[in-house]
Amino acid sequence: MQSHAYRQRIILALEALGIPGELIARKNLPFYEEARELVTAETDASNREHLLVPDAAQAWWSMKDAAQEEGVVLEIVSAFRGVERQIEIIRAKIARDMPMETILTLSAPPGYSEHHTGRAIDINTPGCEPTEAPFEDTEAFRWLCRHADRFGFTLSYPRDNALGFIHEPWHWCYQAGGVG
Ligand code: DAL
Ligand code: ZN
Repeated sequence: MQSHAYRQRIILALEALGIPGELIARKNLPFYEEARELVTAETDASNREHLLVPDAAQAWWSMKDAAQEEGVVLEIVSAFRGVERQIEIIRAKIARDMPMETILTLSAPPGYSEHHTGRAIDINTPGCEPTEAPFEDTEAFRWLCRHADRFGFTLSYPRDNALGFIHEPWHWCYQAGGVG
């Protein structure tokens, strides 16, 4: 979709959700287009396919293999998400009466989620509740902290991040070519 049309679509979506543009401006959130070229990076136990852009998928496979060689299992919980899915996630929180200020500490507004880029992955390891704080206490998280940068992945939302999201030890984004 053309950039202008995409921006219009985002403006309408934000209005429909009741997210003031002023709130986004205050948070200084980066704007993301939806990735177009996507490949299946992983299919999970429920047969759900997780998509990434090709270079991020390659980096993920290399990183996953390297972790596996050291006995650490990394799994994708969520990878590419389009604008429509991000809208659904936010709508579900609104339906639970969560205030918008709180929602925006947990979820990016549509158009502002790193998951749109096909480069972000929510990672889990067996035995851990997905996308929950205890992931920080797993061997998988410790392994990622030591090695992920070698594969081009960085932790997007560390504690007290400037974008105002909660600490997300599970959310890693492929930024550039690693050596893996
Ligand atoms: N949970 C992250 C911030 C997102 O919704 O993209
Ligand atoms: Zn995420």
